[in-house]
Formats: sequence, C-alpha cells, structure tokens
Amino acid sequence: MREFVFDNSTRIIFGPESEKQLGSEISRFSKKVLLHYGGGSIKKFGVYDKVMGNLNKSGIEVFELGGVKPNPTLDKVYDGIELCRKNGIDFILAVGGGSVIDSAKAIAMGVEYEGDFWDFYEKGVPVKKALPIGVVLTIPAAGSEASTASVLTNESNKLKISASSLLIRPKFAVMNPTFTFSLPPYQTAAGIVDMMAHIMERYFTQDRNVDFTDKLSEAALRSIIKNAGKVMENPEDYDARAEIMWAGTMAHNDILGVGRRSDWATHAIEHQLSSLYDMTHGAGLAVIFPAWIRYVKDAYIEKIMQFFHEVFDVEAVFENPDYVVGEGISRLKRFYKSIGMPTSLEEAGITDNRFEEMAELCTRCGYVGSFKKLGKDDVVEIYKLAGK
Ligand code: NZQ
Ligand code: ZN
Repeated sequence: MREFVFDNSTRIIFGPESEKQLGSEISRFSKKVLLHYGGGSIKKFGVYDKVMGNLNKSGIEVFELGGVKPNPTLDKVYDGIELCRKNGIDFILAVGGGSVIDSAKAIAMGVEYEGDFWDFYEKGVPVKKALPIGVVLTIPAAGSEASTASVLTNESNKLKISASSLLIRPKFAVMNPTFTFSLPPYQTAAGIVDMMAHIMERYFTQDRNVDFTDKLSEAALRSIIKNAGKVMENPEDYDARAEIMWAGTMAHNDILGVGRRSDWATHAIEHQLSSLYDMTHGAGLAVIFPAWIRYVKDAYIEKIMQFFHEVFDVEAVFENPDYVVGEGISRLKRFYKSIGMPTSLEEAGITDNRFEEMAELCTRCGYVGSFKKLGKDDVVEIYKLAGK
C-alpha cells in the first residue's frame, strides 16, 4: 500500500428535507450568494422553490445564473465571474449535477484570479484562492459534490479537460434523494455507469497489497448494481435512490482510491466522445470500459479476474483467464444494456471514424493511464474495439 493523506472535508447533509439546513450552512460563509443551475429541471420539478424558500427565510441575498449545459462550456463561467465581481458575491451555490457544480467551481476560481480562468485547466496554473462553494445535488453521477476536480469543454478547440484543487472541494453537499425521483431513466443509468467507473478507475491499479480498499470497492460495486435494478424499475423507491446517491459520492471522494495509483485512462478516452459528439459522459464510459478491459487485460490479468469474480460472480477458473475475462466482459455489457446504456460506438449512434483525431487529443500531453500506459496508437485500438 502506498502512503497517503486522506482528506474529505465536504460536509454531507443527507435525507428528505435536508435542504432545510441550507440557510444555516450558507450563513457560516456569506449572506450574498450566486445560485447557479442548469437548463431548468430544478424549476420544473420543484427544487428551485424549496431552495429559494429556505434562502429567503434566512435573509440571504440571491443572484441567479442558470443555463449551464451538460458537458459544460466556458461561456457561463465568464458570465458568472463578471456577476460575482460586479455584485460582491462571495459564495456560490450549485444546484444540479456535475455540470453545474463544475461550472460553479470554475467561477469560484476565476473570481479570485486576475488572468483567464482557463489557465487552471489548459496550463495547469495552481489555484491560490477560490470562493467557497455549496451544493444541492440533483443527480448522483459525477461525484463532483465532494471532489476536487472540475471538468469543462473549450468549444473552440474541443478540449475537455479538468482542473483540480483542494480549494474547490465543496464546503457542503445537501443530498435529498427525493430530488432524484424526477431523473429520466437515461440520466439515472448514465450516472450509475459513471459512479461505477470512478470506482473501477481506482480499482484497476498495478499496486499490490490494497486488500481493504479492494474489498470496499467490490462491495460498493455490488451494492450499486443491486440498487440500479431497483431504481430503474421504480424511480420513486426512496431507499434505492438513497443508496445510489450515497454511493455516487463515496465512489469519487477518494476513500476508494487511497493507498494506490488510479488509472483514469478510460475517462480520458471517453472525454473525447462527450466533447466531440456531446455524448452523455456515463454513456460514453459504458462504451469505452469494456473495450479498455479487453485491450489492457494482460497488464495484470489476476486483477481483472478478481474483479469479474468478486463483482460479477464469474466462476473462478483462474487457469482459464480467457474464459473469465470473456465471460466477465459479457456480463458487464449485459448489465449496462439492462439499464439502457449503449455498449458500442455503433449503438451510441457514432459511425464516422475520427479515431486518430480523438486519440491525438487524448494523448496530447503524453501517455494516459497507469494500469497500462497508453499512447496514441493504443487509444486508436481501443476506439476500434469499442466500435461494434
Ligand atoms: O440542466 P438541467 O435542466 O438541470 O437537466 C440535467 C441535465 O440535462 C438533468 N437533471 C439533473 N438533475 C435532474 C435532471 N433532470 C431531472 N431531474 C433531476 N433531478 O440531467 C442532465 C445531466 O446533468 P449533468 O449535471 O450533466 O450530469 P452529471 O452529474 O452526470 O455531470 C456530468 C458532467 O460531470 C463531469 C462530466 O464529464 C460531465 O461534464 N464529471 C465531473 C467530475 C468531477 N468534477 O469530479 C468527474 C466525472 O468523472 C465527470 O467527468
Ligand atoms: Zn466520470
């Protein structure tokens, strides 16, 4: 096990009516808030009224900036930075999912920076100061509510990349599972694939002797798979929604990453799909993960077999790795399909061949991944394997 520092300071306020604590939470930081949200689901499904009711009751002055798109771009961030500076706003409340939270994180960094905030993403400029952020989560998926990352797409050069800093980890996340009842099946499923991928990116490591973290990860994945069936069948099953919501946070707050080096190649390879084709991130991961496993399996076949045995109950015939891996990939794909996700580019409606271009962008800073280091040619092969 590698040495590590584990720090997750996001306060989780979980349960039905947890939004009632918003006023007191925000008042610890500010009385002047930017309410940042997406394309309107929060207004349509009553979250906005509940949030505003609680903010008004606490005497918090609210400025609004909605309209964040899934796979968020830079324009809303510039608007948000200007709005905050003009009005002396010193707290950002993101109400939504990963896209809104990531946009809020960018605004939080940008307000306190004299240059162009995109420097944090493309040039890796270290963040020195950022406004505090709070979250009301409406979709369990990206795990951004307790993560240190923000992922944005620059439409001018199609770069979908992240910035990371402890300073942008949200101060709190209000998580009311009833807010997720309104999620369409496709978004529910894409969120489930994403949270599973966050665990798998950490699980597939070359580091040995990480048994405790492995076992937690396997249990987390099994629980997600079990409750996925329940939420797909009954979107208003409170207990199952609650399990999935909590799992989404735990999948990405790095408790399942400690003591080992994570991989993240699949995310880097997927980001080209959500950037070029505006594909939903989770759906892109369902397409790429099986292909990635097939391509890298020999880098540490015992770990791949352990995964399929412990998570998908594939018979442990370890003298026949081809069987275990082949059967495991089939079961993984079957699960993705069972919740309505595509498992190939063709199923996702992508039939043109831009593999070279995507692989070039993906590896523009060098190799991706650490389970097996992948260069441009490797990434092209993975796109090909994901084709059909
Ligand atoms: O925009 P609105 O109208 O709110 O609709 C959203 C959006 O269309 C809708 N939605 C959200 N909550 C809803 C709802 N619809 C009905 N009822 C609700 N309760 O769902 C759609 C997707 O929302 P989005 O925020 O895009 O989803 P998600 O949380 O999956 O975020 C995806 C983004 O996060 C990034 C992804 O790359 C992608 O850009 N990621 C961020 C990470 C991080 N910051 O740590 C890590 C992840 O790996 C990921 O890369
Ligand atoms: Zn993800």
